[in-house]
Amino acid sequence: MAHIHPLDPFTVEELQVAVKILSDSNKVSEAVHFAGAFPVEPPKKIVRRFVSGTPFDREVRLRGYDREHSGSFDAHISLTQLKLISFEWVSRGHSPLSLTDYIRTVELVKDDPAWQTAMRKRGIEDLSLVQVDPWPAGGFPPSDVPEGTRVMRAISFLRKHPKGNGYARPIEGVMVYVDLENERVFRVDDYGVVPIPTEDGDYDAASVDRLREDLRPIEITQPEGPSFTVEGYAVEWQKWSFRVSLHPTQGLVLHQLGYQDDGQLRSILYRASLSDMVVPYGDVSPMHSWKHALDGSEANMGQFVNSLKLGCDCIGEIQYFDAVLLGSSGEPFTVSNAICMHEEDYGILWKHTDLQGGTVEVRRSRRLVISAVHTVGNYEYGFFWYLYMDGTIQMEVKLTGIVGVSAVTFDGGTDTAPLIAPQLASPVHQHLFCFRLDFEVDGAQNSIVELNIETDPIGPENPHGTVFRCKATPLTRESAAKRNVDPARSRSWKVMNPGVSNQLGVPVAYKLTPQGSPTMLAHNSSPHARRAGFAKHNLWVTPYSPNELAAAGEFTNLHPGGTGLPEYTAADRSIENTDLVVWHTVGLTHVPRPEDWPVMPVEYCGFMLQPVGFFNRNPALDVPPPKHCENKQANK
Ligand code: CO
Repeated sequence: MAHIHPLDPFTVEELQVAVKILSDSNKVSEAVHFAGAFPVEPPKKIVRRFVSGTPFDREVRLRGYDREHSGSFDAHISLTQLKLISFEWVSRGHSPLSLTDYIRTVELVKDDPAWQTAMRKRGIEDLSLVQVDPWPAGGFPPSDVPEGTRVMRAISFLRKHPKGNGYARPIEGVMVYVDLENERVFRVDDYGVVPIPTEDGDYDAASVDRLREDLRPIEITQPEGPSFTVEGYAVEWQKWSFRVSLHPTQGLVLHQLGYQDDGQLRSILYRASLSDMVVPYGDVSPMHSWKHALDGSEANMGQFVNSLKLGCDCIGEIQYFDAVLLGSSGEPFTVSNAICMHEEDYGILWKHTDLQGGTVEVRRSRRLVISAVHTVGNYEYGFFWYLYMDGTIQMEVKLTGIVGVSAVTFDGGTDTAPLIAPQLASPVHQHLFCFRLDFEVDGAQNSIVELNIETDPIGPENPHGTVFRCKATPLTRESAAKRNVDPARSRSWKVMNPGVSNQLGVPVAYKLTPQGSPTMLAHNSSPHARRAGFAKHNLWVTPYSPNELAAAGEFTNLHPGGTGLPEYTAADRSIENTDLVVWHTVGLTHVPRPEDWPVMPVEYCGFMLQPVGFFNRNPALDVPPPKHCENKQANK
C-alpha cells in the first residue's frame, strides 16, 4: 500500500479491505452495522524514527453492533498482514451510535401505534410533519430492559412545513424508548399534554422579514498564495510543522506538532485532540433530566463532520483536507472539505513606540487556522486550532446550532429552564470538552508543575501588603494532578523538560493557560458524573499508555460508567520525568437567552498553550515589518 506516513488517514481501499477481512472471518452476521474505523497508531518509536519508504504496520479497529449476536464488537485488523489480530464482543457498554441506529429509531417510532396515539391526543394528524430526534439513552435505560440491550430514546417535534424549524414546536411530554436489538418500541411515556407553541422559528434568509442592505464586501486575497506548504497530510507554516487527521469520535487531530528554532525542529506535542465531551442538563423535567450526551464516544461526532464550502464556512486562500470514514453499512465514504486550513490576519503581534527616540516598531500577527465543524442533532461544534508566530497554540471551540427546548405555558419559565421565546423554554446545561494533549516538550520526558499566584503576609519584607509571587508546585502523581481552574490565583500548569534547559539554566516549558472553565455541576453520585468522570476536574495528568485515549472510556454507549480517566488514574502512577499526557476539560455552563433563539450566535470556550522559557527570547522578532509601514526613522 502506497502510504507516505504511518499517521496518514485510511484510504477508501484500506477500509474496504478491512471490512472484507472481518466479513470473511465469519465473526459477524449480515445484521452488522459499523460505528466507524478507528486508527491504531504505530508505536511512537516507530513513528518518530520513520523515514520515507520504510515499511510499517497499518492497523485498524472496526467497531459496531451486530443484532444477531446481541452485542457490540471490537475487531482489530492488520492491513499489512491482511488478517484479524483479535475480535471481542464488548462485555459492558456498546459501540457508538451509527447512522443506521438513528434511521432505524425514527422508523420504529413512527410505526408505533402508542406513539401515534400520543400524537393524535395532541391534535397532530399529519405525522409526516413530526420530526423524531433519537438520543443515546445514557445511563438511564429503564429497568424493564435487560442490561446490554441496545436502547435509544426519542423525542418529537412538529414542523410547520417540511423545511420548518421543528425545534420551535416541541411535542412536550412524550418519551419513547426503542429496543434496537428486537426492533421494537418497548415503552412510550406520556407525562401530559402541553399546548404546542404557535410561533415558528424559521431562520433561513427567505424567512427573515428584511435582510440588512448596508453590508459592503470584505475580500481576503493572497495574490502570491498562502505561506504554508502541504504534502499529503503534513503541513509547514511559519516555522511550525505538524500532521493532521480526522478521528471517528474525536474529530480533528494534530500530530507531531513542532517549531523550527535556529534550524532545529523542536517537538511540543506528539498528538493533540478532543478526547470526549459531555452535555449534562440541569433541568428537573423528565424530558431533559436524563440528558448527558457524550457527543464523542456515544454520538460519534467525528462521523458527522460537515463538508465545508468556500466563501461560506471559510474565506480566503483555503487548503481543504477530505475525510474518509466508514459508513454504517460497511461502505467507506468521503466527506470532501472536512478540514479547513487557512491563514488569518490577527491584528498586532507586537508594538512599541519609543517616545524619546521617535521610532515605532509594529508587526502584524498572523495565525494558521485548522478547523472542522460537526453537527450533532440540534447542535454544531466547531473545533479551531490556531498556531501563532510567537509559538502560542490555541484551541477554540465554537458552539452554535439550536438549543434544547421545552414547550411551556406563557409564564412557564423557571430557574432550570428559562423562557427564550413565547411558550418555549430552554433547559440550563453544560458543554464540557476534554482535550487530550500528549506533550513532548523537546522530547518525551516531561514533568508538570502547577503555578499559583500567592500573596505574602504583611511583615518586615512586605510592610504595605503589596507583595505577590508565582509559586510552582510539582504534580508528581496522578492523584495530585486532578486539579481545577482558579482564575483568582491566575492558576496555570507548566509542562517542562527537566533534561533540557534554556540559556538561563531553566528547564524549557510550555504553559497550559486555562479559561475560567466550569466543571460538571451534577452530583458525584449522579449517572452523569459516573459516566463522564473526566468532567469533574479541569486537569488530569497520566503517564502515556497507548491504550489510554478515551476520557470517558471506549464503549460508553449504555455503559454504567467509571471508565476512562477515573479508571486510568486509579493506580496513582508517577507522572514525573516521564512521557506524560495532559487532559484538560474546558467548557461553559449555558443559561439560554432569548438571543440564542431561533439559532444560536457562536459561543466560545478553549485554552492556550504558551512557551515559557522554551525560547530564549521573543521568537517573533524576525517577523518583517508590514510592507507599507517600514519605519522611516529606523536606527541606522
Ligand atoms: Co448550549
